[in-house]
Amino acid sequence: MRIAVFSTCKYDQEFLERYNTGHELVFFEQALSLKTIALTETFDALCLFVNDKTDSNMLTALKENGIKLILLRCAGFNNIDVAAAEELGIKILRVPAYSPEAVAEHALSMILTLNRKTHKAYNRIREGNFSLEGLMGFNLHNCKVALIGTGNIGKAFYRILKGLGCRVVAFDPYPDKALIADGLTYASLEEAVCDAEIVSLHCPLSDQSFHMINEQTLRFFKKGAMLINTSRGALVNTEEVITALKSGQLGYLGLDVYEQESALFFHDLSGEVIQDDLIARLISFPNVLITSHQGFFTREAMQQIAEITFSNADAFASGEPLVNEIKP
Ligand code: NAI
Repeated sequence: MRIAVFSTCKYDQEFLERYNTGHELVFFEQALSLKTIALTETFDALCLFVNDKTDSNMLTALKENGIKLILLRCAGFNNIDVAAAEELGIKILRVPAYSPEAVAEHALSMILTLNRKTHKAYNRIREGNFSLEGLMGFNLHNCKVALIGTGNIGKAFYRILKGLGCRVVAFDPYPDKALIADGLTYASLEEAVCDAEIVSLHCPLSDQSFHMINEQTLRFFKKGAMLINTSRGALVNTEEVITALKSGQLGYLGLDVYEQESALFFHDLSGEVIQDDLIARLISFPNVLITSHQGFFTREAMQQIAEITFSNADAFASGEPLVNEIKP
């Protein structure tokens, strides 16, 4: 198949070329948008990433351009109007799970950095400052962690937290029996976050979960708690989280995702003036750590993303069952 691959960086091209099973790939650095949709003419399929947005108007235009298949090289699919795609007969295939440990380990690294302030210690020592003032953390052993979402990544994170000796309480509309048998306690969102030192989000973005962390739910948090979001930016109401950071209701914030990330993340903007005032405010806090959607970014995950993307493309091309199809 002839596949247009959008939002590509050098590392995407390297892994997709290495594991290509014989498709014709054309790489575009740009994201798919109304401005770049004309590039999709003459292709059979598109390969998209987290910030390539396709609403129903764009899908109609893609259909007219002859696109039959969208291969998502990610797990989340909140950027696609799945119902409109189904109506138009465009198949959407995704990579449902690729090294969930990669994201879970990144969540852990954010917790450890925020808690033990190793980033500050690194800079201090390089300047000859061996003082410990301001670097005090807390033990993770025995601390309560609220796990919001216990799918692939939540499960991997639960195993890590258990190993650290944390007390984990989860919220998920579909509790996992195997995890309950393994000692995990489920509760309502309010009960899970109340008294937790750390709240970590591992659920998808949907109409139900949009801005689930907001002024109202933040009131249930223990004062000074840590919030970690490695799932999707719009799970969190950024303005209301900033208010909670200013009042001290929230003590630490770790974000690997951000609601307006598409204009910022994955790009080198170091020579430009950042126009987004919310992220500029977030960056100014000493107790906020932001990474640029890098939770997935390990060698193992990149290999699995490429391999599953091509097995999805091969299944479509040969009329085999589409095991990774997204249905409305
Ligand atoms: P999954 O589909 O295996 O699990 C999601 C879990 O969330 C399910 O158990 C589901 O019942 C639960 N859930 C659904 N709605 C919920 C709600 N309102 N509140 C609490 N739980 C809810 O998904 P997986 O693989 O664990 O990924 C989770 C999310 O992580 C993805 O949707 C994606 O947004 C994000 N992600 C981020 C990456 C990164 O690089 N930072 C990489 C991969 C995924």
